[in-house]
Amino acid sequence: MSSAAITSNLGSGFIGQRVIYYPCLASTMDEAREEARLGAAEGTVVVADEQTGGKGRMERVWLSPRGGGVALSVILYPAISYLPSLIMLASLAVVHSIKAVTGLESQIKWPNDILINGKKVCGILIESAVWGNEVAQSILGIGINVNLRVADFHEILSIATSLSDELGGYVSRVKLVRYLLREIERIYLTLPAEAIYEEWRDRLVTLGKRVRVDSGGDILEGIAEAVAADGSLLLRNSDGGLTRVVAGDVTLRDSV
Ligand code: BTN
Repeated sequence: MSSAAITSNLGSGFIGQRVIYYPCLASTMDEAREEARLGAAEGTVVVADEQTGGKGRMERVWLSPRGGGVALSVILYPAISYLPSLIMLASLAVVHSIKAVTGLESQIKWPNDILINGKKVCGILIESAVWGNEVAQSILGIGINVNLRVADFHEILSIATSLSDELGGYVSRVKLVRYLLREIERIYLTLPAEAIYEEWRDRLVTLGKRVRVDSGGDILEGIAEAVAADGSLLLRNSDGGLTRVVAGDVTLRDSV
């Protein structure tokens, strides 16, 4: 992987026009935030072949061994009203890219885990800094297990998969990243769009399932009944009430 391999004749207008590539980095999130602070143009991408301190949601670690995956962060300066759509945008861009490059179908687990055959193949982390009514920057972090032999990583064996494990063959990370960057731009330029919310909602595996949600330490149980256009999850509790969950981590139970 290299900057030139990604950017050359990419065909996008601004996303991926500048790609900053590192063979090894602690986390592309921190580097992208620093680039934004220094005034990087919208669409600048930080990509790493390996991360030594890859960050997941809810303070978890994201495993990024050398050569195994895609680890990148995209710098955006969106209107504040677009913030809830970024989760949907990123999830859909990944699902579309996986399909286009490998032919594999993937699903979205609320809010933004991408699964294949029930196992996680991609995680998305969005960090936004907001000052008053202005977004200083949003960093869209995407980690995809591409050519990772998940069997070699016992800590994720039961919950994760990779594109190569699912496909039974090697997948070009450059091809995947190029498609992904074009797709992020294509969807971003459609905002605000009801269609993004509708497609994201329709692709969620979570709806209709009995779930357990860890929302910042609060454990909620119920049936995932719906998602609102702002991305929040509506949970039907056992007493019949409805709870709106803005952020959290979902464990899927049996169907109802
Ligand atoms: C999650 O599922 O918890 C989110 C994982 C996000 C991982 C990506 S890899 C690229 C970017 N850099 C990081 O340190 N994290 C995100």
